[in-house]
Amino acid sequence: MTGWYERAIYPALAQLDPERAHRQALRGLSALERFPSGRRLLRQLCDPPADDRLAVDRLGRRFPNPLGLAAGFDKDAEAVGALLALGFGFVEVGTVTPRPQPGNPRPRLWRLPEERALVNALGFPSAGMAAMRARLAGRQFPGAIGVNLGKNRETPLERAAEDYLAVLAALWDVADYLVVNVSSPNTPGLRELQARSVLVELLRALGEENRRLARLRRLRPRPLLVKLAPDLDIAGLEQAIAAALEGGADGLVVANTSTDRRLLRRPAPDFLGGISGRPLRARATALTREAYRRAGGRLVIVGVGGIGSAEDAIERLRAGASLVQLYTALIYEGPGLPARILRGLLAYLEQEGLRSVEQLVGVDA
Ligand SMILES: Cc1cc2nc3c(=O)[nH]c(=O)nc-3n(C[C@H](O)[C@H](O)[C@H](O)COP(=O)(O)O)c2cc1C
Repeated sequence: MTGWYERAIYPALAQLDPERAHRQALRGLSALERFPSGRRLLRQLCDPPADDRLAVDRLGRRFPNPLGLAAGFDKDAEAVGALLALGFGFVEVGTVTPRPQPGNPRPRLWRLPEERALVNALGFPSAGMAAMRARLAGRQFPGAIGVNLGKNRETPLERAAEDYLAVLAALWDVADYLVVNVSSPNTPGLRELQARSVLVELLRALGEENRRLARLRRLRPRPLLVKLAPDLDIAGLEQAIAAALEGGADGLVVANTSTDRRLLRRPAPDFLGGISGRPLRARATALTREAYRRAGGRLVIVGVGGIGSAEDAIERLRAGASLVQLYTALIYEGPGLPARILRGLLAYLEQEGLRSVEQLVGVDA
């Protein structure tokens, strides 16, 4: 699969405008998704390992392995089954907004191949919560589904909670966990919701609704996580952690894309938006370590940002993440990447004589 993607598929996709390339890839995956034979074919081609040593028990369930697909790749849950067939243990869909919205004007997605990075200013294009619910309702998947919750652009910040509450309620049944996205740089003002008092209030409201829905269905509340920006300084991180704990959240997703241009080796003056991929790696690892030191026992940390190899995933787990995710590396490395990372993780466990990937969590924090 490796050779194929690099020799034939990536060069063809790289000819296209990045957003069109993404559309084509999703369309292909969602066509395969519709048939069990398509999903089987993907699984055979990628051949991801299934091994109990990779399983992670966190957030009230068993994840078949610690590697997930980060939010934003499958915003409208069009290809979840196919993406799980590549080997991901979980897929975070969204960000999804209450009402459909087109996102920002194009162009709004750029590749920086020498830096193994992307810059995006998508601004939550979303088919909306009803469309997502229709796609996911009643389906069973061989992995966990996270739903990343957002607000519509035109909803004023003071009423943001109403949007998050609406999406939470609409998608509660189809989510294994929920993520409050207060860290996208492409929706004006959104990151202000990371401030302590605002975040506590938002989380409390969501927690109340979460528990109400759980009582109605006689189930446990869904785990609720907060996704943070990598541009927080230590004081900002402390505030966000305090708010997450006070507001009753179960975990943190660390981190979203960065607006800090200094992360890039070469300036990209025409591109406005969030940087993802390799330039984020060191910062996201450092932030994961800080978050683990401060809240490791109390909050589950999902590490994301610049992960593109088994070594990167191991580093992030050792820094304190219980689960990891990637997005940008999949664009450059192709659909064989998740299986390669999982094989690398297993080889590492063998080499170190470890019984479970969970034994890695936080050992370097
Ligand atoms: C094109 C693109 C769209 C994204 N959209 C979302 C999104 O809708 N919601 C979100 O929480 N994160 C979004 N992200 C951020 C990723 O989930 C992830 O946090 C970030 O890209 C860092 O991981 P990576 O370096 O592996 O890409 C997006 C990233 C990219 C590249």
